[in-house]
Amino acid sequence: MRIDGSPWRSIFPDPDTRGRVRIIDQTRLPWDFVTVPLATLDDAAHAIRAMQVRGAPLIGATAAYGLALAMRADASDAALADAAATLAATRPTAVNLRWALDRMTAALRKLPPAARVEAAWAEAGEIAEADVACNQAIGRHGLALIAEAARAHPGRTVNILTHCNAGWLATVDWGTALAPIYMAHDSGIPLHVWVDETRPRNQGAALTAWELGAHGVAHTVIADNAGGHLMQHGQVDLVIVGADRVSRTGDVANKIGTYLKALAAHDNAVPFWVAVPGSTIDPTIGDGVAEIPIEERDGAEVAFLAGPDAEGAIRRIRVIPPGSAAANPAFDVTPARLVSGLVTERGCCPATAAGIADLFPSSV
Ligand code: MRU
Repeated sequence: MRIDGSPWRSIFPDPDTRGRVRIIDQTRLPWDFVTVPLATLDDAAHAIRAMQVRGAPLIGATAAYGLALAMRADASDAALADAAATLAATRPTAVNLRWALDRMTAALRKLPPAARVEAAWAEAGEIAEADVACNQAIGRHGLALIAEAARAHPGRTVNILTHCNAGWLATVDWGTALAPIYMAHDSGIPLHVWVDETRPRNQGAALTAWELGAHGVAHTVIADNAGGHLMQHGQVDLVIVGADRVSRTGDVANKIGTYLKALAAHDNAVPFWVAVPGSTIDPTIGDGVAEIPIEERDGAEVAFLAGPDAEGAIRRIRVIPPGSAAANPAFDVTPARLVSGLVTERGCCPATAAGIADLFPSSV
């Protein structure tokens, strides 16, 4: 995507130093736009754990490059297994992490160690390129849904609600939930996006609002609790969110609060679409609510807010009493029955075992 007219990706080979990658440090947005280099396995693992990179597809691409960086230090079988284990342990919910590590490991294990450094770099590059192509295809299929909503309300703006950040910052480029929005905007469909702030880490307020603004898409940030009210009053035509893992039966794990939006959408007959690449579908999971691992993060993310003071210095302020405990489950699971359908790179399908198997036979 473009920032001030220049093309950017969320992760890219370092133009100055061969064998390194650079990422946009998302913990600094929207206040500072800075890139940081990843030179080692530990750099990549830290970037994922500290959420300098986040979003399921980008976590997968970063893990792939993390393995490639590990191979530069030691390309033995033992080092390959250790590096994959280190990266797999960084964050538990987004299945794209495991998907990317499995793909990298399968490709590298069959090669002699001497051939692994170049092959790992090439394979990680292919994973990144494939993500971009996949998201463009998701965008094209999702665009048809937005165009349909526009046709249903001729002459008025289409209002779309999204939760968290499933834009280009959450992928290598384009995004999943936001790709259809960018394409609809670029094709001239009048639209406006309600952006859930997405407490506690504010990925909506900080990242989605920033990237929509950079692309010129009309949007309004709302408190997470506002969506149901807007739906009751006809101010939301459709909801599009991303996902961190989808069960083979269509249950959707996504950022905490997604489930409540799906309930409100269902109660108000607002279509609730989930945009995902095939790499987010986990064929090993049947019952998403019972089986998808949910990341528990530090309660400090709930207890504190961060932002610039009047002088521009970033300050953390406490928003709960010092003695109160804070809990921080980072994801929830929306049962398939609340999902209107999945928007994938292979087209749209019902969020059912049959619908998924039709498009992705290997997910059965
Ligand atoms: O904790 P995060 O910021 O990594 O969570 C991200 C989300 O929940 C996104 O909605 C999801 O990964 C889809 S990204 C295309």
